[in-house]
Amino acid sequence: MSVTERATNVVLGGTRGGPDVATLRKDRWWLQPVVTVSILTAFVIYSTWAAFQNKNYYVGANVHRDLISPFYSPCLASSCVEGSRAGFFFNGWSLSPAFLILLFPLGFRLSCYYYRRSYYRAFWWSPPACAVSDAHSSYSGETRFPLVMQNIHRYFFYAGLVFNGFLTYDAIRAFHQPGLGWGVTVGTLVLIINATLLWLYSLSCHACRHLCGGHVKSFRAAPVRHKLWKIITPLNAKHMNFAWASLIFVAFTDVYVRLVASGVWTDYRLF
Ligand code: FES
Repeated sequence: MSVTERATNVVLGGTRGGPDVATLRKDRWWLQPVVTVSILTAFVIYSTWAAFQNKNYYVGANVHRDLISPFYSPCLASSCVEGSRAGFFFNGWSLSPAFLILLFPLGFRLSCYYYRRSYYRAFWWSPPACAVSDAHSSYSGETRFPLVMQNIHRYFFYAGLVFNGFLTYDAIRAFHQPGLGWGVTVGTLVLIINATLLWLYSLSCHACRHLCGGHVKSFRAAPVRHKLWKIITPLNAKHMNFAWASLIFVAFTDVYVRLVASGVWTDYRLF
């Protein structure tokens, strides 16, 4: 086959890939967008349902446990069930307490650089994959409202650290078994793994790496920031893995607490 026969016309200023050719790729490039749409849609549906439930988010002293769902922590409403309430709370909040906090973890995920790439591809087909043409005839990137708001990500990162602190505290509290003393249950392990994955997701964030090593002209003059940057950089390379693992596990943690709280599952004591 000659070079001329393999050539694809390129229209400058037109749809990427040309008006008549969606893609020359022969592999299953569509698989990744399909998986992304499936997992993100399932997560949004489940988390919305869980936030509206306003029950079964805490396993308390009546069964010698202290387990709270990450979707409800910190529990900031005076209506939070006995034992789950944070040290400070709002009086008179009649909706689910999940709505007081979900904006922060949700905003952190939605504005994440990795998720942005994924859902722009999967939901908006802009473009759906490398070397596949856009579903749109023009591209303005994130230069206009509302996408320009994605720049707020670094502030959600700071809020995410605060939430990680709360969830770490919850994981430590899960060692406490009221009426029995201290020990480890399956629920303790679930909350610990959840907090660990969320820390890995946050610490591998691009904004975190920039915070540690950005705006430095010479690492020689900033040895501490150089050390931090060297720790964060390998984590950053795995950000995609931590993004998916933490997303799936945070939903599983809510499922676990919910099923134990409703009596469907038993939270077995290991020691
Ligand atoms: S880039 Fe993904 S959390 Fe910051």
